[in-house]
Parts: sequence; C-alpha cells; structure tokens
Amino acid sequence: MIKVLIVDDIPETRDHLTKLLGLEREIDVAGTAGSGEEAIQVAMDLRPDVIVMDINMPGMDGVAAAEIISQRLPTSPIIMMSVHGEAEQLKRAISAGAREFLVKPFSGDEFSESIRRVYEREVSRRVQLAGEIAQTPAPTKLSDEGDHQVIAVFSPKGGAGRTTIATNLAVAIHRETGARVCLVDANLQFGDIGVLLNLNPKNQSIIDAVERGEPDGEVVDSVVIDHSTGIRVLLAPPAPEGADLVTPAYLRKIVEHLRATHDFVIVDLPAGLTDHTLGVMDLADTIVVLTALEITTIKNVRLFLEVADQLEYNRAKVRLVVNRADTAQGIRIADVEASVRRPIDATIVSDGRLSVLAVNRGVPFVVSHPESVLTRDVMSLAKLLAGETAAAQDKPNKRGLFARR
Ligand SMILES: Nc1ncnc2c1ncn2[C@@H]1O[C@H](COP(=O)(O)OP(=O)(O)O)[C@@H](O)[C@H]1O
Ligand SMILES: [Mg+2]
Repeated sequence: MIKVLIVDDIPETRDHLTKLLGLEREIDVAGTAGSGEEAIQVAMDLRPDVIVMDINMPGMDGVAAAEIISQRLPTSPIIMMSVHGEAEQLKRAISAGAREFLVKPFSGDEFSESIRRVYEREVSRRVQLAGEIAQTPAPTKLSDEGDHQVIAVFSPKGGAGRTTIATNLAVAIHRETGARVCLVDANLQFGDIGVLLNLNPKNQSIIDAVERGEPDGEVVDSVVIDHSTGIRVLLAPPAPEGADLVTPAYLRKIVEHLRATHDFVIVDLPAGLTDHTLGVMDLADTIVVLTALEITTIKNVRLFLEVADQLEYNRAKVRLVVNRADTAQGIRIADVEASVRRPIDATIVSDGRLSVLAVNRGVPFVVSHPESVLTRDVMSLAKLLAGETAAAQDKPNKRGLFARR
C-alpha cells in the first residue's frame, strides 16, 4: 500500500482527488491537509510514502511547505500540483524539493501513475543507498579487547569541531579516569591533531606503520606517540598523498589493535560516508555525532541518522552533541531534536577565543584552561561517555570512576 497525503486548500478538490484514487487498490489516501502549516504537521505524524500538494494556497504556500517537508522528511517525496504549467512555478517547485509536477486538471490514471512512479523511484533510491552501505564488511574482533571502548567522533560537515572535541575529549577522559587513552587521527588527508598537540607527523605517523607491512601489535605500538598530556596519539600522514596508502581494512585493523591495549580509543573521523569512516563506525562502540545550530548541518545529521538506522546501529550507540550550542541564530536545541527526532545528549558552548588560543599554543584547552566553561562542557561529555561505559559493564572496580575524584 502506498500511503498518500493530499494537500489542497479547497475541500472539494481534496474530495475529488481522494475519489480519483478510490479505485486504486495499492494506493491509500491516509490523510488530507488544507494548508501548508497543516501539511507539515500531518506529514510529520503520518510519514506518508507520497505527498501531493497544491502549489497555490493562502498563508504558507506549497513551495514553502515543500521546502520544510523535504528537509524534515526526505523519504516522503512530494508531487506538486498547479493550475498553470508555467516554467517559473515548475522551477520553484523543483528547487523546493518536489519530485514531480502535475498540471490541473489531470485524469485519474495520470494521477495514480505519477504517484506510483515517484514512490518506486524513492524505494529504489533507498535500496541503492542501503546497498552501498552494506558492502562494507563487518570487522573481526580481537580476542582480548575486554570492555575497551572505541569512540568515533563524526560530523557530516567539516568545521563542526570534530578534531577539537576528539582531542580534548581524549585528554579529558584520561584525566578524569586515569584510563589508557589513544587518540587516532583518521583524517588521513588533512589530519589536524598534530597541530592541536604540537606533534610533527613527519617524525611518526600511520604511514610508518604501513611501511612496515601488516599491522600487528608491535608495529602499531611503535608508531603511537606518548604525549605530555598522558594520552597516546596516532597521527595521520604528513601529506594528503599518504592517505592513499592506508586502506580501509588497514585502518580498521589498526583501531582493533589499539583497542586491545587501551581502555579508550578515540577516533577523529573525516566528514563523509566512505569505506574508511564506515569501517571505523561499524567497529565503534559509540559514535559521537557533532552538529551545529545551523540548517544544512542539521539536515545532513538527520540524513546520517537515517543511514545509522539502516545500518541497524543501536540507537544508544549514536550520541548527538551540539557544538557551539549558544550561537543559535534562531534555531533552538528543541528544534534540532524535533528535526532529527532524537534527544540531544550533550551540548558544548562556543568559545572561539579559547579554541584558537589552544590551537596556536598546541595545548588542549582542557589542560590550559581547566576552569573554563568550554572545558566543563567537554568534561561532562567525557563523564557521559566514560561513566556510561563503567555503569553498562556493571563491574564493581569500574563503578564510580568519577565518584572517586
Ligand atoms: N566550541 C567551540 N567554540 C568555538 N570555536 C570552536 C569550537 N569548537 C571548534 N571550534 C573552532 O572551529 C574550527 C573548526 O574546528 P575543528 O575541530 O577543526 O573542526 P572539524 O575537525 O570538524 O573540521 C576551529 O577553528 C576550532 O577552533
Ligand atoms: Mg578536523
């Protein structure tokens, strides 16, 4: 059954369109709406397979409603209807995210065919996406990893603060718990962790492991750097071309080896879903997804969360964190939660001055400015992630890691 939502401001038109589909056995008119505002609300509740919407409506028109719906519900394709077949309207409809355009009046056959076509295209789009993701083989686990945790820090957008958070989070967890923590720069082309920690990848990086062949415990150990903050660090290659030498499988093996010898492995991932990032995400226990209070980032985070669902990642595996959470330009945390349909797990304030200062000095702010709000927020995130682990494992010796302080 194809679940359809019909949106038109004229009640007679809604009835007429519903009747046109009355004889279609695999199409079900699951709901109707009389305005753009109502369409958004009903669509969010109903999650229809196809939305048919009039472009001209008083108040919020079809284009404005389509823009919002196609952002919030990218899996509910929209067919736009109009009494004029003007190119200008067509363009507006398409740029708002509509997948087809129907000019009134149209026959019942034209109507149902359009709905079926749009629905089938959407289904095959989803199948293709799932197929691309399924090609990534599942990682094999090493035996003695115990309850050691891999935490991947990800965002679909560059500049979201992955490197900043991953680095400070690694130091925070080490400082809070005394745990053995290894920070991995998986941004193989443009790794920044060396800059943040004042380390030169030319001296030692993942490339040096590759040159020694398959990664065994000894090879991996020899390329990891002991940093003055107490954490251990595996740097990305010193130049972008080095990235080509590190295959997704190699990166995965490295992370698995590091897991065997560290309580926490924090991986700074590049933006984008690739074999490299998905390989690490598969084996990760937790994926920290960073978002900003900004529309395109939120949209892409929502798309990523849909992929995470398709990959059948446990919901608790994905942790949503808003970075620069106090720089809302009209967007509130609650709006993000409504848009991605998940609660936010943590927030981190904006402090550009301190962030930049820390990078320039090559000293993480959790070390140089332990009393800052920024540090406090990262510490809370560290507690959430590391504390949770201890509680989830239910091991007496790990309980109250934070309480001991
Ligand atoms: N909470 C924050 N407040 C202010 N600036 C931040 C914050 N987090 C990150 N930044 C700054 O944003 C920029 C991008 O951060 P970075 O960690 O390099 O992002 P990514 O690794 O996701 O590309 C950097 O200049 C960094 O100092
Ligand atoms: Mg980065």
